[in-house]
Amino acid sequence: MFEGNHEYAARDRLKDGTAVIVRAIRADDKELLQQIMKDVSAESRYYRFFCAKKLLTLQELKYFTEIDFDSHIALIVSLCDERETPIAVGRYITQPEGEDKAGAELALLVGEEYQRHGIGNILLDHLAQIAVTKGVSQFVCYIMPENSKMQNFLRHSKYPIKKLQRSSSVVRMTVDLLSVNKTA
Ligand SMILES: CC(C)(COP(=O)(O)OP(=O)(O)OC[C@H]1O[C@@H](n2cnc3c(N)ncnc32)[C@H](O)[C@@H]1OP(=O)(O)O)[C@@H](O)C(=O)NCCC(=O)NCCS
Repeated sequence: MFEGNHEYAARDRLKDGTAVIVRAIRADDKELLQQIMKDVSAESRYYRFFCAKKLLTLQELKYFTEIDFDSHIALIVSLCDERETPIAVGRYITQPEGEDKAGAELALLVGEEYQRHGIGNILLDHLAQIAVTKGVSQFVCYIMPENSKMQNFLRHSKYPIKKLQRSSSVVRMTVDLLSVNKTA
C-alpha cells in the first residue's frame, strides 16, 4: 500500500497471472539495479540512456538509488520467488525548471525476457498513482525516434498521450495522468 514514503510496496500480476512485487527502490539496491542493467539488451540500454552504456557508474548508482521519494520516485518490479529476482525498474523525476511545472520525466526499463508481459503498464500505473497524490499531473517522456517500442507502449496505454515535438534526435510525448478515459 502507498504510504507516501520509502515503504511503498504492492503486489501485482502480469498478463499471464504471474505475481510480482512493486516496491520503492532503496539505497542498498545498487547491486540489484546493476543486475537489471546486465540482464537487458544493449538496444534497451541505448534506448533508456540515449548512449551505448553497459553498466552504471558508482555515481549513477547513487543517483538512481539514493532518492528522496518526493521529487524523484523509483520503483523496482521483482518476481515473487525466493531471490525476489528483479525484472524491471521505473522512475519519474519532477522538472522544477521545465515548461510544465506539474510535469515529471518518466523512464522505464523492462528486462527483455519480460517485455510484452504487462510490466510497463504496471509501472506506469503505480508511478501515476503516486504522482497524482504528489500533485504531478503529467509525465513527459523523451524517446529516441527509432524507439517504436516506447512510442507504441505510450500510444496503447490508457492515458491520453500527446506527441509534442519531434526532432531528428528526440520525440517528446506527454502522458496526461488526470483523465484516464483515453480519447480515440
Ligand atoms: C518500452 C517498454 C518500457 C515497454 O514495456 P513492456 O513491459 O514491454 O510493456 P507492456 O507489456 O506493458 O506493453 C503494453 C502495450 O504496449 C505496446 N507495446 C509494448 N512493446 C511493444 C513492442 N515491442 N512493439 C509494439 N507494441 C508494443 C503493446 O500495445 C502492448 O500491449 P500488447 O503486448 O498486449 O500488445 C520496454 O519495451 C522497455 O523497457 N524498452 C527498453 C527501454 C526503453 O525504451 N525505455 C523507454 C525510455 S524512456
